[in-house]
Amino acid sequence: MEESALGKKVSRDALLWVAVVWLAPAGAGDLAADTAPSRHFEVTASRYKFEPSRIEVAQGDVVDLVVRSADTDHGLAIEAYQVKVKVPKGGQSVAVSFVASRAGTFPIKCSEYCGSGHKRMTGELVVAERAQ
Ligand code: CUA
Repeated sequence: MEESALGKKVSRDALLWVAVVWLAPAGAGDLAADTAPSRHFEVTASRYKFEPSRIEVAQGDVVDLVVRSADTDHGLAIEAYQVKVKVPKGGQSVAVSFVASRAGTFPIKCSEYCGSGHKRMTGELVVAERAQ
């Protein structure tokens, strides 16, 4: 019972994040609208890593992440893109989308305390500059 209530809350949060990200008038939004491919990644969170730990896209791509936990509660946050989702134990998938409008290398962090290795549970998002 507890479990499904938590699940519902998490999905709603995830949808909210998707809405927030989509509604955000990112500078490169125009670039993304016409030409950008959608890039889909399945990410597994576990103590204490993300797999894949490195996500590579091109500037302007629409990035769709579907994240699942293989063990306990985790989170996935990419501060530069205002992405932050809870990834609940139990394996339920959480989806988040954003437009990779800025080029660079951005840290991916676990945003929910998950044990002694929480702080070193990291990854990176690499956004390659798109030639104009
Ligand atoms: Cu995984 Cu904190």
